[in-house]
Amino acid sequence: VVALAERYSADAKAYRDLWAPVLRPYGTRLLGRVPLARAKRILDVGTGVGALLPEIKKAAPSAHIFGIDRSSGMVALAPRSYLLAAMDAERLALRSSTFDIAVIAFVLFHLPDPVKALAEISRVLRPGGTIGVVTWGEGWDVAHPALRAWEEELDAHGADAATPVLDHKGAMDSSEKMEALLRAAGYASPEVWIDQLEYRWNLEKFIRRQLSMGLNRRRFESIDPERQRAFLAVARRRLELLDPESLVHRSKLVYATATTPA
Ligand SMILES: C[S@@+](CC[C@H](N)C(=O)[O-])C[C@H]1O[C@@H](n2cnc3c(N)ncnc32)[C@H](O)[C@@H]1O
Repeated sequence: VVALAERYSADAKAYRDLWAPVLRPYGTRLLGRVPLARAKRILDVGTGVGALLPEIKKAAPSAHIFGIDRSSGMVALAPRSYLLAAMDAERLALRSSTFDIAVIAFVLFHLPDPVKALAEISRVLRPGGTIGVVTWGEGWDVAHPALRAWEEELDAHGADAATPVLDHKGAMDSSEKMEALLRAAGYASPEVWIDQLEYRWNLEKFIRRQLSMGLNRRRFESIDPERQRAFLAVARRRLELLDPESLVHRSKLVYATATTPA
């Protein structure tokens, strides 16, 4: 958990500029499916740089909105006008039965024990409160052609193998798996649906994203400067030959809402 939080802190600016905008529309879709307008207290679990907080505020202008995240570097970039804290989703330093709604967008797969985290979120929700979840669906491990080309060139230039810290995407990438997790954590009336993310990268942004955050940043930094230069020249030439469709990231998403027993 600490190693992952440190990685996010190191990548926070790049995350804010190059990844939060990719995910934000899909987190916003989740917000449309939870009863925000009636909520007085709302918790955003794993708020990151707080990308969803203004969207939550639009739907619930007078609610108290609280964002927590394990990475202090991410929280430091979230808008200061919200209540924010560095906190672990599996051990929320929050009173029981406090929130009407909790959302957890693109976070659950990072947690060592997702059921424990869901149960912990249930503890801080009031009876009859609602949780909203979005995470990656089946096919999350299949790279689009531009990403595949980038990773093949990293391999060819001797970059270290990718070592993800805490990644359980495969444990929650279908409706059935998500529903089972929510039921195991004690939630009632789970509703689960599948949607599709689509993001059209432009070449320069795609390259900046790969160099400045995530596993591929670590892989790039594992090779010496001379090889880095050679890698960049070859990878760029390869990407320039691809048709624009190859730069489109498409992925299934798993969404869910559920309630705590009244
Ligand atoms: C992909 S980002 C999603 C951020 C935000 N929800 C969004 O939609 O842009 C994942 C976030 O989960 C946070 N995270 C990972 N493990 C966590 C944990 N154990 N407790 C709280 N937050 C955690 C990371 O620090 C990171 O900010």
